[in-house]
Amino acid sequence: MRKPTPPHESIRAGWLKPLTPGAGPRYQQIVGQLAQAIRTGELASGDQIPPQRWLASELGIDLTTVTRAYTEARNRGLIASFSGRGSYVLAGGGSPHPGSGVDLSMNIPPQPAGGELADRVRNGVADILDRQGIEALSVYQNDATNVSAMQAGQAWLGPALGALASRPLLVCAGTQAAIFSVLLTVARAGDTVLCEPLTYPGFLLAASQLDLRVQAVESDADGVLPDAIDRQHRNTGARVVYLNPTLHNPTTRTMPEQRRRDVAAVLQKRGLTLIEDDPYRYLLHDAPPPLATFTGGQATYYLASLSNCLWPSLRVSFIVPPAEDSGAGVQDSLRASSMGCSSLLLALGEQWIRSGAARQIVQDIQREARARQALARALLPGTAQAPPTGLHVWLPLPGNWNTQVFANALEQRGIIVAGSDAFSVQTSTGDAVRLSIGGARNQEELGQALRQIAALLNEDHRRPSRAIV
Ligand SMILES: Cc1ncc(COP(=O)(O)O)c(C=O)c1O
Repeated sequence: MRKPTPPHESIRAGWLKPLTPGAGPRYQQIVGQLAQAIRTGELASGDQIPPQRWLASELGIDLTTVTRAYTEARNRGLIASFSGRGSYVLAGGGSPHPGSGVDLSMNIPPQPAGGELADRVRNGVADILDRQGIEALSVYQNDATNVSAMQAGQAWLGPALGALASRPLLVCAGTQAAIFSVLLTVARAGDTVLCEPLTYPGFLLAASQLDLRVQAVESDADGVLPDAIDRQHRNTGARVVYLNPTLHNPTTRTMPEQRRRDVAAVLQKRGLTLIEDDPYRYLLHDAPPPLATFTGGQATYYLASLSNCLWPSLRVSFIVPPAEDSGAGVQDSLRASSMGCSSLLLALGEQWIRSGAARQIVQDIQREARARQALARALLPGTAQAPPTGLHVWLPLPGNWNTQVFANALEQRGIIVAGSDAFSVQTSTGDAVRLSIGGARNQEELGQALRQIAALLNEDHRRPSRAIV
């Protein structure tokens, strides 16, 4: 290849090298060249890179390959593209400085390197536009879109819920909205809701906004203790229980089948309402049946988000209302707070479910999560709870560290984690942090962050004690 002459002198093309046959997919080679040029300083933040058409003709390859490379580069945070103005290198563009700027505080499903998600979104949206036309997508969620989405939801939930999935489902813009609306429907200000001692912060936020009291139920390694539910129900008069029994956020625990049966028996005996939040089920291929199957769906709201097993940006979640209820109360409160899902994103979620793409995305995430969890088990001490798969690791801290001090020390090293206080119902749940393995851009970056975390655990941050006289 001759030395490339860019189409305009302000555009940087000197980094471009001929592609090597057999050295991996061509789009990845282009991304690799770009990343290396940024790493070595040949390209700096704000530099403009060549238009895709020019690059395709310069390399003698298809425009679609270059488009794929630019998409991947954007996904990796290397460049940003602006319609009509071209593509530019981003500040800090993906440079894997050890531990710099890694946010492990948000639960994001990790995508495998060179994964297909961007293509699936692009092709899925193009297909939906072709088949449905823009008019059908320019509507608010309505009865017709509800029926179609509900049928997709029934197909999605069938393997987990069996016959319960054939009931009319509600479809809403994410489980967070579902939790708020269900709580609004089943509890009144001042009521007490029971939950695990460490629980999903979004539930705590919703409860606090609704002026509900929250009472932790004693738990062991298998989850909440059935007798403790009974006791707290009698002590507090609570009639509602919120649980996340599969790959629990944040402890990663999964409640075994027998405990589910025992918990369901207590709930039914006492006539308590269960909110079962089950966003991680499909990441575990051998998860025990949902609690809802043991209550027969009676007085149970089953919530199944697509965020954590497919893509958070879909903002789609299904609600299976109690067997004896149409869910009209929850539907009304969902309507009162939002106009439902985006028709485009709902159509995309449906298309993924109907085409089988959703199951493949789950498998991609599972595969990547397995590799990342294995890395966590290899690099962190044995006290870390890193399940075979799942989106996060729970790391109890040794006695020399307090949660806040540890999280601050990590932040100074450019690593953001979530401290146990964010999940704690009562104050004394022990010092620990949650590490979301999908927050790192790739396994290398995660490995670097985990090594720093492991090293910090061994540091003694306490000042040398002063002589007390
Ligand atoms: C237990 C639990 N419920 C709900 C959510 C949020 O779901 P959604 O994105 O559908 O609002 C999360 C997100 O991490 C979660 O961990």
